[in-house]
Amino acid sequence: MSTRKMVVGNWKLNPATLAEARRIIKRTRLTAKELKNVEVVACPPFVFIPACVSKRDTTVAIGSQTVSPETEGPHTGEVSARQVVDVGATYTIVGHSEERQRGDTDERVSRRLSAALDAGLTPIICVGEKVRDENGAYLETLKEQIKNSLGNIAKKHSRDIIIAYEPVWAIGAKDAMQPADIYETSIFVKKVCADIFGPESAIKISVLYGGAVNPLNAADIIKTGKVDGLLVGRESVNMVGFVELLRAVEDII
Ligand code: PGA
Repeated sequence: MSTRKMVVGNWKLNPATLAEARRIIKRTRLTAKELKNVEVVACPPFVFIPACVSKRDTTVAIGSQTVSPETEGPHTGEVSARQVVDVGATYTIVGHSEERQRGDTDERVSRRLSAALDAGLTPIICVGEKVRDENGAYLETLKEQIKNSLGNIAKKHSRDIIIAYEPVWAIGAKDAMQPADIYETSIFVKKVCADIFGPESAIKISVLYGGAVNPLNAADIIKTGKVDGLLVGRESVNMVGFVELLRAVEDII
């Protein structure tokens, strides 16, 4: 876990053209160069990864938005972790709720995670409850999801993973979760990680927050929510907003 804050841009199914992808990554890189306290990762759609990777300039690390649980063979439409590494990506998102909504189970997320680790990618594993009930049953759901998604990896890999806590109800929403609640839940996430990997390993795992992060709430989410960084959807392809967001995070420290 570094003292720099991490901001990961999840471009989702954007932008529509390669020319625009080049513009976004260029602007992101120019801004990232000004920053000392922020580590920036961009996760474009697979097809744009090679154009976004720069061997000369690694200011912004590149990740994919998922990887196949399979390594090779008859799996039409899939992209393997090794292929993603070969074109220069170093991170991958795994288990995003939009992928889970399309039918991915914890078991499949856990296989994607293993495939990513085997190929040498740093996985950013998304977890989060769909709804919050007043009596706190969502904590049990969250715990199960984390245990089932992470439980199969070796303890030594705890230092190679990043967790993104993303309450599903906040993704694509107008408002993010309240920073005080983010703090409470991120502690819970670390506690579950401690059950899996032991307290010493768990304390070193970076936990990000994602869901309706924007330039106005980013700094407070990190400061009051005490998370190690942010996973940003919509705002990561809005160039004006993303530049402001990155600068807001830079100025926290
Ligand atoms: P959002 O998405 O920032 O657009 O809410 C976050 C995510 O899906 O990772």
